[in-house]
Amino acid sequence: MTIILGLESSCDETAAALVSGDGRVLAHRLATQEAQHRPYGGVVPEIAARAHAEALMPLVDAALEEAGLALADVDAIAATAGPGLIGGVMVGLVTGKALALAAGKPLIAVNHLEGHALSPRLADQSLQFPYMLLLVSGGHCQLLRVEGVGRYRRLATTIDDAAGEAFDKTAKMLGLGYPGGPEVEKAALRGDPKAVPLPRPLVGSGEPHFSFAGLKSAVLRARDSGKYSVEDIAASFTQAVVDCLVDRTRLALDQSEGLTALVVAGGVAANRAVREALSGLAESRGLPFVAPPLWLCTDNGAMIAWAGAERFRLGLTDGMDIAARPRWPL
Ligand code: KG4
Ligand code: ZN
Repeated sequence: MTIILGLESSCDETAAALVSGDGRVLAHRLATQEAQHRPYGGVVPEIAARAHAEALMPLVDAALEEAGLALADVDAIAATAGPGLIGGVMVGLVTGKALALAAGKPLIAVNHLEGHALSPRLADQSLQFPYMLLLVSGGHCQLLRVEGVGRYRRLATTIDDAAGEAFDKTAKMLGLGYPGGPEVEKAALRGDPKAVPLPRPLVGSGEPHFSFAGLKSAVLRARDSGKYSVEDIAASFTQAVVDCLVDRTRLALDQSEGLTALVVAGGVAANRAVREALSGLAESRGLPFVAPPLWLCTDNGAMIAWAGAERFRLGLTDGMDIAARPRWPL
C-alpha cells in the first residue's frame, strides 16, 4: 500500500501527516500559531513563516514516530505549493523538496484548495465524482463542480471578502478575539438570529456569486448604534451568512446535473449552523450531504497527503524546479 507524507504551511497552522493510498490516516500532527498571532488580531506573515520553519521538521519526525515508520517507508512527499502566504508556503515546499531528495522519493506539489476539495473523499471513500463543493474558508468562498482529480469547474466565487474573513472581521468588530469564527459561533448560541436586520448580499441574483463586504459594514453600523447585544449581532450575522451560502448553493445545484453529493469543506464548514442549513438543502434535493469531520475541515496535513495520494495514483508528480505560488486558482 502506498504511503504519502503531506506537509501544510500556507497560513497559520503547521502540519504533517501520513496517509495511505486506501484512505487510512496513519498519523497527523499539527501546531497552531494562534497564540503568536492573537496580539495582532490576525495572521502576521513574517511571524508565520518563522514559526513554520521551526515547527515543521519536529512535526514530520513526530508523525513518522506515531505511525512507526521511517522516511524510507514513504512512497512520495506531498507539500502545499500555494496559494497562501508565500513565506510559509516556501518553508513547506522547500522542506518537501529536501525530504524528497534525501529519501530519493517523488515530490507532489499540492494546491491547498485541491487539498480541501478532495478531503471529503478521504473522509468518505465511497464519494464519487462529480460532486458540488462549497469551499468556505478564511481566504476562499467558492462553489466548485469537482469532476475528477485536477478537474474543477468553478461556478462561483466571492466578489469581495471570503466567508471566513467576514467571520474574522465581525469577531474583531465585536471584540470577540481571534480566530474569529469559533468565537462568533459561541456568542451566536446565546443570541437571537432575528434581532438585527442585516442585508443578504446577492441573494436572489441570477449569478451564483458571493459578497460579504456589505454585510460587514452593516454589522459595524449595528454595533455603533448601541441598540443590540454582541450575542444578537453575532447570531444575526451568522444567520445572514447562512442564508447567503444556502441561496447561492441552491442556484448552483439548479444549474448543474448528474451530481452525486453536496459537499462542504474549509474552516467555515466547522460552523454547526452552516452545516445544518446545507444538510437541509441537500436533503431537499435528494442529494447525500458530506461534511468532513471538523479536524479535516480546517487546515491540516492529512488533506495535503490525501490530495498527494490521489495525484500519485494517476502518476502526477512534480520536478524539483516547481515554484511556490502565492496565488494559484484551481
Ligand atoms: O480552512 P481554514 O482553516 O484556513 C484557510 O483559510 O485556508 O479556514 C479558517 C477560517 C477562518 O476564517 C475561521 O474564522 C473560520 O475558518 N472558521 C469558522 C469556524 N471555525 C473556523 N467560521 C465560522 N464558524 C466556525 N466554527
Ligand atoms: Zn484552508
